Amino acid sequence: MCGIVGYCGPKRVVPVVLEGLRRLEYRGYDSAGIVYLEDGKLIKHRSEGKLARLEDIIDEAIIADSHIGLGHTRWATHGAPTTENAHPHSDCTGELVVIHNGIIENYHSLREELKAKGHVFTSETDTEVLAHLIEDNLTNDLVKAVKKAIKFLEGSFAIGVLWAGMPDTLVAVRNQSPLVLGVSEEDGTFLASDIPALLPYTKQVVFLDDMELAILTADSYQVFSLETDQPVVKEVKTIEWNAAMAEKAGYKHFMLKEIFEQPQAITNTISGRINLESGEVSLPEININGEDLKEIDRIFLVACGTSWHAALVAKYWIEKFANIPVEVDIASEFRYRHLLINERVLTVSISQSGETADTLAGIRIAKELGSKIITICNVVGSTMTREADGTIYTHAGPEIGVASTKAFISQLAALFLFTLYLGQQKKTIDLEVSRTLGKELIDIAGVVESELPRIKSEIEQLITTYYDSRDFLFVGRGLNFPIALEGALKLKEISYIHAEGYASGELKHGPIALIDKDMPILALVPQDEVYQKSISNVEEIKARQGRIILIGTEGDDHLKNITDDVIYLPKVAEAVNPILYTIPAQLLSYEIATKRGCDVDQPRNLAKSVTVE
Ligand code: F6R
Repeated sequence: MCGIVGYCGPKRVVPVVLEGLRRLEYRGYDSAGIVYLEDGKLIKHRSEGKLARLEDIIDEAIIADSHIGLGHTRWATHGAPTTENAHPHSDCTGELVVIHNGIIENYHSLREELKAKGHVFTSETDTEVLAHLIEDNLTNDLVKAVKKAIKFLEGSFAIGVLWAGMPDTLVAVRNQSPLVLGVSEEDGTFLASDIPALLPYTKQVVFLDDMELAILTADSYQVFSLETDQPVVKEVKTIEWNAAMAEKAGYKHFMLKEIFEQPQAITNTISGRINLESGEVSLPEININGEDLKEIDRIFLVACGTSWHAALVAKYWIEKFANIPVEVDIASEFRYRHLLINERVLTVSISQSGETADTLAGIRIAKELGSKIITICNVVGSTMTREADGTIYTHAGPEIGVASTKAFISQLAALFLFTLYLGQQKKTIDLEVSRTLGKELIDIAGVVESELPRIKSEIEQLITTYYDSRDFLFVGRGLNFPIALEGALKLKEISYIHAEGYASGELKHGPIALIDKDMPILALVPQDEVYQKSISNVEEIKARQGRIILIGTEGDDHLKNITDDVIYLPKVAEAVNPILYTIPAQLLSYEIATKRGCDVDQPRNLAKSVTVE
């Protein structure tokens, strides 16, 4: 969380930094700030609220003839989201500034020590400690001062530092918070928390690793290990995303665009990975040979939020088709529980960003215990992909909307493929079954594509009598239970309606007490192997006068006897139902949130990439 941008090069710095911040605003939007160097002086502008508020007050800065600077968009951890707490933070002289993403855990004691030495603090943030700590160690070499200061820090940090005394240089350090350099012969050198900020300028990037320090000038960059104090030769990677992929392309919101990109995301994720003639799935990128995979006797799936819901679906798939027991863990729990993991366990992390702090910590622990690690991830070069033994990339393209949609669908596609792959290695499914299932996965992209516009318009009508509800329940069984959880999460995060997801059969163990004529319940009732059970649960809700919305199979006329509010979906193979049934759940949340006037792409209190614990 928090977005960092830095630039030095031939372009005017302020527009470059602002464009970068715009593209990183999904990482935090409580307050924003920029700083640049002009005529030997640091000029700083900060504002609480979204980036637009900052842009309103910096007309003159846009044309400043400055070519080096930093910018920051904040997701508050220490200190309220006020202008005073917005980054950049300065030292006592105002000649040195710092931007930071992460948490300095020992900031309180450092602050007291620095105050005792006479440093004057002007914010409540942990970050300001850094500025004073570097100042305290500064004589005439910024790099040395930063190195010394870092030794005092505990916690996670990605930082950018600019000092008027070294006017051509930015210094950056990464430890447990993401940081990437962008390099371009024509346009200079860039620093950012995430790739979208760099896309308008360069596709050549260098990912920093933990405890690395980078020195950036307009035409060079050098990276040093803070552990060995030696230079590190870094690989320059080429990113395949382009700038347009991270734009709204005429849609009102990123979320809507991303929902409509889902058929393509499915296709991209499976393309080249399954041979439809033979049914064979090939995933060489997991870097674990077939013999080793055969030895695996248990799988842990570890993830947070929406990615955790994808893991829950995958448990059903893997256990059914690959016959391997699967445990699904919320990463923040996984990392602190007593784990019975050894080298016969495979741990799979699922993450859009590849930077989620808890998930990352989880795979590090599993690795130490001897488990092989695979990550299913959307962001090329992200930390998880670098630490895992192998990565199955989801090819969803950049996901900017804070509420995850296309990343989820592509995770499901990747996990389905992975299931087939495991089944083939373990010889639990033959190639003919795999071919049929693979075909069903491919076909679902076409079904989603053709159904999306109709589902959207039916949901738009339907929500006119639901959008002002105070609560909402989502229920489903089997493969669709995790989709009920996902629907509830989407609704609460973007519309602020209290929503819960339940396994339909669990209702009568408590939640049914909530049902009355004011309680809307969305039930996922495809004609699958648990259909009759699901319908019985819906009847129980009806008997208690709940307001029922049913999502079911085309031609199932019985649903209309239960409620008027039915969204029909085409009959598809049972195994891929969760992919299709996610669509109305996403759209219901989107339509309700927009009707309520909520900021769909940047919901309150959230940030896209949760890089702190
Ligand atoms: C919800 C959402 C979050 C993320 C979660 C994990 O819409 O986006 O719940 O799914 O923060 O993020 P990743 O997948 O990046 O690890």
